[in-house]
Amino acid sequence: MRFSGKVCIVTGGGSGIGRATCQRFASEGGNVVVADLNAEHGNETVKMITSKGGTAIFQNCDVGKSADVQATVDAAVKKWGKIDVVVNNAAMMTFLPVVDLPEDKWDQVLTVNLKSVFLFCKYAIPHMPQHSAIVNTSSVHAHESEAGVGPYAASKGAMEALTRVVALECEQRKIRINCVAPGAVNTPMLWNNPNVKSGKEKVEGAVGQPEDLAAAICFLASDEARFVNGTTLVVDGARLDIL
Ligand SMILES: NC(=O)c1ccc[n+]([C@@H]2O[C@H](COP(=O)([O-])OP(=O)(O)OC[C@H]3O[C@@H](n4cnc5c(N)ncnc54)[C@H](O)[C@@H]3O)[C@@H](O)[C@H]2O)c1
Repeated sequence: MRFSGKVCIVTGGGSGIGRATCQRFASEGGNVVVADLNAEHGNETVKMITSKGGTAIFQNCDVGKSADVQATVDAAVKKWGKIDVVVNNAAMMTFLPVVDLPEDKWDQVLTVNLKSVFLFCKYAIPHMPQHSAIVNTSSVHAHESEAGVGPYAASKGAMEALTRVVALECEQRKIRINCVAPGAVNTPMLWNNPNVKSGKEKVEGAVGQPEDLAAAICFLASDEARFVNGTTLVVDGARLDIL
């Protein structure tokens, strides 16, 4: 029970990797804040947890909006008095080459995928005691990518750079921050990807399950990873080597 009594916020907790991570925290004793834009799916995650005796609340949150992020932090602190874990996991993608990409789409992807990490760090860290941890869900696209996903790949690369800086800034506070970089994972985001649908991006041979990522995220969030800080754990079934 690595998360007994710990308060864990997970963004994008209504689906895929975020949902599996919420379930894993709860199964190990955590009090979970399921933060998502999609209230129906977020509440489903809460029900899945509470029906098994776990503890979770839903918080409606657009992670790109400062007021929503602050409300999510406030909800956790009001209910449980502190925050031990933040998983910045919600994200979005676009599938257009840079020359065709409307400027507002660039801004939207960078806001949801990257500014959100800044916002949660800014507002949650003051409420996080020593030995707390932040885990950011990056992507193999931060390391090797393909045409058409410019803002997504850029946001994930920048997320990893920001993670290294915040790790240094939080050394005194004894708060760790790391990334996981998933390869292809069996979630709606993967199967809705038009490049995957068309067969342009081949995924056969190395598709992980959301639970595989939840295991890695929970490791990084736990005290077992106390000497792991400011880095990225690639969890891709060797996909980067296959490509
Ligand atoms: N599935 C993959 O193959 C894969 C690969 C690499 C990285 N990732 C990363 O994993 C993370 C989770 O993705 P997933 O595959 O579980 O996706 P998913 O589509 O299953 O879930 C994403 C969740 O995020 C929520 N969300 C989207 N925008 C939001 C916003 N602005 N505010 C709050 N919530 C929002 C959605 O409602 C949804 O519940 C993402 O960061 C993604 O980039 C996924």
